[in-house]
Amino acid sequence: MRPTETRRSFLGAAAAIAAAPLVPAVARQRLAATFRAKKKILILGGTQFLGPAIVRAALAQGHELTLFNRGKTNPGLFPEVEKLQGQRRRPRADRPGPAQDLTALQGRKWDAVVDTSAYFTGEVEDVCKILAGNVGHYTFISSLSVYKTLEVDATPVDEQSPLAECADKYVQTMGKNFEFYGALKRYCEETAAAAFPGAAALVRPGYIVGPEDPTDRFTYWPARFLRGGECLAPGDMDNDLQFIDVRDLGAWIVKLIEDSVSGPLNAVGFENTITTAEFLHTGKGTLNHGCNFTWVSDAFLEENGVSSWQEMGCWTPKAKNGHSSNARAIATGLKFRPIAETIRDTAAWVQSGRGDREWGAGMKAEREAELLAKWQAKK
Ligand SMILES: NC(=O)c1ccc[n+]([C@@H]2O[C@H](COP(=O)([O-])OP(=O)(O)OC[C@H]3O[C@@H](n4cnc5c(N)ncnc54)[C@H](OP(=O)(O)O)[C@@H]3O)[C@@H](O)[C@H]2O)c1
Repeated sequence: MRPTETRRSFLGAAAAIAAAPLVPAVARQRLAATFRAKKKILILGGTQFLGPAIVRAALAQGHELTLFNRGKTNPGLFPEVEKLQGQRRRPRADRPGPAQDLTALQGRKWDAVVDTSAYFTGEVEDVCKILAGNVGHYTFISSLSVYKTLEVDATPVDEQSPLAECADKYVQTMGKNFEFYGALKRYCEETAAAAFPGAAALVRPGYIVGPEDPTDRFTYWPARFLRGGECLAPGDMDNDLQFIDVRDLGAWIVKLIEDSVSGPLNAVGFENTITTAEFLHTGKGTLNHGCNFTWVSDAFLEENGVSSWQEMGCWTPKAKNGHSSNARAIATGLKFRPIAETIRDTAAWVQSGRGDREWGAGMKAEREAELLAKWQAKK
């Protein structure tokens, strides 16, 4: 079929859909999806956590995908999708490592690229040199850590809030305590935006959660609800929680590509505020009525060295808990599933074995019992 015929039949079909008031809304949406322009999308990454969510959402919309990675993480995923192998990290002068290899990207064209795997300025610069001119749109997966501060006195953090910086934008380490992570993501964003003027979406997620999360920071709670009994409930009941289900994030990233959205976008929940108390009671109601909550203060947790979103999931002391604006994300189509669904599906993943590995975060049962006893003795 010649391109003009394709375009004519597409426009004809679109007009017919719009002018069909008697066709039910769901059927109209399905028809519209059938005639939406299909895109060729390259994912730099694609096989750990966020990548697969983007791949699944893009395949569901009928887009054609290519994944570029080293072939190490979950190599059996998506056998139906084209895979290219390479290595994007620049070798470090002070440490032997594999040579960078981007040859598989050369001489190829895509409508859009999604970059989930870059942490260093140089690696974005190197792929952009190859892809600029051959790709129409670049989505860079950045982080809320790009902001100078997320603490409460600076809230709400919106896309114009001041950004983190570090002395050397080409530094090849995150620092001992990941102190360069945010600034480096910022320089990666700037590199992508300069290479794709007006065509780079800079997506800044907060905590990404849901089934297959390799960090366990959120997964602790669905597992804890399943266990039941007396649960240490962290901090202030009214503390405002913000996280995002990986599947909602994946679907919205595909929409950003379809709509050619550019510029920075905070990617956090929710439509309405969700407090810690609402979260815990939703978990109890969804998974296990045999949970009882003993609320323990921020000060007690901090005195006992409990780390925020590490030893204790979904907890930041109220005085440090900033709120980030998601107005732009919502205006560009980000939708949130009910948190009960995220809790239920993550619990199902826990019950299916959670990838059979050691827990990376979350409070151990003995430590929780110890802290609860100490809290009761103090009262
Ligand atoms: N998790 C959170 O809460 C959170 C919050 C904010 C922002 N983020 C950002 O979200 C992104 C999360 O990504 P994800 O890990 O879930 O993405 P992903 O696309 O699912 O997985 C990472 C991919 O990168 C590939 N990769 C890793 N090193 C590579 C290299 N040197 N060269 C080529 N490919 C390489 C891996 O495959 P191989 O190993 O086979 O190469 C894998 O396919 C990150 O950019 C992170 O900064 C995460």
